[in-house]
Order: sequence, then C-alpha cells, then structure tokens
Amino acid sequence: MRIGLIVIALSICLLVRESFEAPAKSPLKISISVSSSSVPTIDTAKTLSLAKSLSSHSWEWGTTIQASLEVNNPELSVFSTNAFPNGKVPIVSGTGQKIDALAYAKQKIQTNGPALADGAGAIGDPASLGVGAILLGSATSTKNTIYKSAAQRQLNTVLAAPKFYNGALSQRANVAELWADNMFMTPPFLAYSAVAGNNVTLLRQAISQCALYRQVLQANTTSTWKGLWTHIVGQESQTLGIWATGNGWAALGMVRVLATVKNWQTSSSWSSEQGQLIQYILEIINGAKAVPVDPQTGFYRNYIVGGSNSQNNNTVTWFGDGAGTAALTAAALRLAVIRPSLAPQMISFAKPLLTSLAKNTNNDGLLSPTVNPLDWYTTTPFTSGSPEGQAFISMAGAAWRDCVNAGVCSSTSRKS
Ligand SMILES: *[C@@H]1O[C@H](CO)[C@@H](O)[C@H](O)[C@H]1NC(C)=O
Ligand SMILES: *[C@@H]1O[C@H](CO)[C@@H](O)[C@H](O)[C@H]1NC(C)=O
Ligand SMILES: *[C@@H]1O[C@H](CO)[C@@H](O)[C@H](O)[C@H]1NC(C)=O
Repeated sequence: MRIGLIVIALSICLLVRESFEAPAKSPLKISISVSSSSVPTIDTAKTLSLAKSLSSHSWEWGTTIQASLEVNNPELSVFSTNAFPNGKVPIVSGTGQKIDALAYAKQKIQTNGPALADGAGAIGDPASLGVGAILLGSATSTKNTIYKSAAQRQLNTVLAAPKFYNGALSQRANVAELWADNMFMTPPFLAYSAVAGNNVTLLRQAISQCALYRQVLQANTTSTWKGLWTHIVGQESQTLGIWATGNGWAALGMVRVLATVKNWQTSSSWSSEQGQLIQYILEIINGAKAVPVDPQTGFYRNYIVGGSNSQNNNTVTWFGDGAGTAALTAAALRLAVIRPSLAPQMISFAKPLLTSLAKNTNNDGLLSPTVNPLDWYTTTPFTSGSPEGQAFISMAGAAWRDCVNAGVCSSTSRKS
C-alpha cells in the first residue's frame, strides 16, 4: 500500500517532468524493489568481436564500424551531445589507429576508387563506410587526407545514383530501386557529410531522402501495423513483405539522421524537421508494437506480419529474428534519449526485447536465431551468426548503456 503510493507519487513526478521536457538527468535515485526485473547486460565486447570477424560485405563493414563507434567511442558517434565540437566533425589524433572503429575501417576502406568498397551492384551499400572515412579524413595525420578525398568521391557517387520517380536515391547502381536497407547506408552518410562540409543544403537532402523512401516503402494498409515498411520496391528485386530487418535499417538510419540534426549547432533548432523524423521512427516502432512477437524467442518474426511477398500471405509462420529485433530495440532506445517525453513508451517497447536478445545470445556473444542476411526468403532460421545482427545487438547494448547513463533508462523496472 505504502509502496503503491510511492509509485503513484513517482509516476506523477515523472509525468510532470516529461511534460516539461526537462533535460535528461537522474533526479530520482530511489530504487523500488517491488516487481522490479533487472535488464540483463549484453556483452558488447563479445557481440562486436563477432560482428568484426564475420563481416565480409561493404554494408556489414560499415554497420560494424558504426557499432564499434557506439560501443567503444560513444563520444565520436552522432548520438553524443558533443558529436560536433565547435560545430565540426571531431578531430582524432594521429592516423586514428587508436580508435577501434577507425582501425577496423582502415582495413576495409578502399581509397582509390569512386566508392569506399565494392558494392556488388549496390550503389548505396559502400556509403555505409562513409562516416568512418570522414572521421579518418579529419584525423591530425597528413597521411589521412586520402580518406577525405575518398569520402568526397563516395558522396559524389551516391548522389549520382539513379533516382526513383520522387527523387529518392536508388540502392542499386543500374536501376532505380529502393531498399529499406539503404536508409542505414545513404541518409546518415549524407547528413554526416553535410556537417563535414558545413553544407545545410546537403543536410536537408538527407532528411528529405528519409521522407522520399517512406513515401514509397511504407506499407499500404490501414491495419494496426500501419507505419511499418515493406522491403524493396523496384523492377529488379521487388518484395513487398514487411521484413523485420528492413524496418530496423530504416528506423536506425533515421535515428542517426535525427541525432546528427539535433547535435549539430547549425541545425539543432530545426524543430519541425526533427519532429518529422521522430514521427517516421515512431510509425515504425508503433507498427511493430501492434504485432505480437514470436513466443518462442520473444523476437519479431522475420516478416513481422504476413509473408515475404505480401502482408496478407499467412502460409508460413515465420521464425523470430534476433537481427531485426535488435535493430528496432537500438532505434527505440536512441529515440528515448533524444526525446525523453517518449521514453516511457520506448522503454516499455525495448526492455522485453533486450531481455529476449540477452537470452538468445550465447557465452561467445553469438545471437541466434536470426534471418539469413543473404537470403531473407528462407524459412530456415540462421544460427551461425549474422554479421549485421551482431552489429545490431552491439548497438542495442550500447544504446541501453547510454540510456542508463543519461538517466532516462533504469536498470530495474518500475511497476505499480
Ligand atoms: C552542398 O550540397 C549540395 C547538395 O548536395 C551541392 O549541390 C552543393 O554543391 C554543396 N555545396 C558545397 C559548397 O559543397
Ligand atoms: C502502395 O500503393 C501505390 C498505389 O497503388 C503503389 O504505387 C505503391 O507502390 C504501393 N506501395 C507499397 C509499398 O506497396
Ligand atoms: C506466400 O508465401 C510463401 C512463403 O514465402 C510462398 O511460397 C507463396 O508462394 C506465397 N503465396 C502467394 C499466393 O503468393
């Protein structure tokens, strides 16, 4: 009874605090032990180590670089409130070799061509290495200027991609085709390039790419899961299934663009643009929230609802996918810190997923089951380690840590 009252009082305090959008601090250090369940820790050193060793494609390298920044050098990632000291991309010392993400990036980035890696037909994927290249290019060593020019060439390449009817930049080099995946590769790189080049027009372009992709890929439905995105629209590989990982790519890509806009002094006051991006991310999270997870794993199914070609095809009961689930979890936790008024909603979404992720990760840090990242149509769960899934779970672990450190997430849950 007394505890119940404290909980009510606390909830009121929290409500009041949120309605004023107070900066994220930890004003209430009272820990309540009633029905509290602690959130299991994700060993991000191990999950990231597998992301590094398993990655072998351009987008996997780029995603792993981002995961390593978030895990090992959060001060350099766009989620840091000091992401852009003096309004500029941070300057790392020497050749950047001491920064884990950059030491890894150096092994993967090619500095002699129009793209930072071989995209194997994808014009968007190599752009995922772009943030790493820009950071390397801004290092103090003069040896690193090659990365600066390589990042600039990559930018020119991706901006010259075939355009969809509405102006969205293609994920494919030869045809105009939109993949939800590209939301993680291209717009965040455009946004980071905008800061590096002090180019407001380019930052607006990064934001508008999110809107243009959403216009094409968001599922046509009025069902409860409206807001979720289909996977690919185009003439080559179209697949209108609501792919969990695709939604994860989109939400994570947009939250990185949002963080870039918010944490760059020049754009920090762009409230309508930030509100727009937040709305797009919320549409995805709320769409997922409306669909039950696979009870066996606690993960969203590989096709969150329906099948690979249609949201209405229920011939297969899809397995739970840890990769897409981890990406959605990380995105929600980042949004909780960026917009604390949304924190209760985002945390109640993310916490059970984090618990499922931890439960389905072994002592070596291997997350399983996931979708086979190279064959999203297969009904066989993948158990030998997905490179992108390993990066996503590392991001989810880093996002939780940062959310706790910001005083927004608490390691025990408050329940009345
Ligand atoms: C800024 O970006 C826009 C859009 O990509 C580009 O057309 C323009 O040349 C850039 N401006 C500078 C000064 O680099
Ligand atoms: C939604 O419907 C419109 C109009 O029929 C179509 O052009 C578009 O491709 C559809 N989008 C998806 C994701 O199915
Ligand atoms: C429904 O999905 C299954 C599994 O992906 C596929 O084999 C089948 O062809 C689909 N059915 C229709 C009518 O498209």
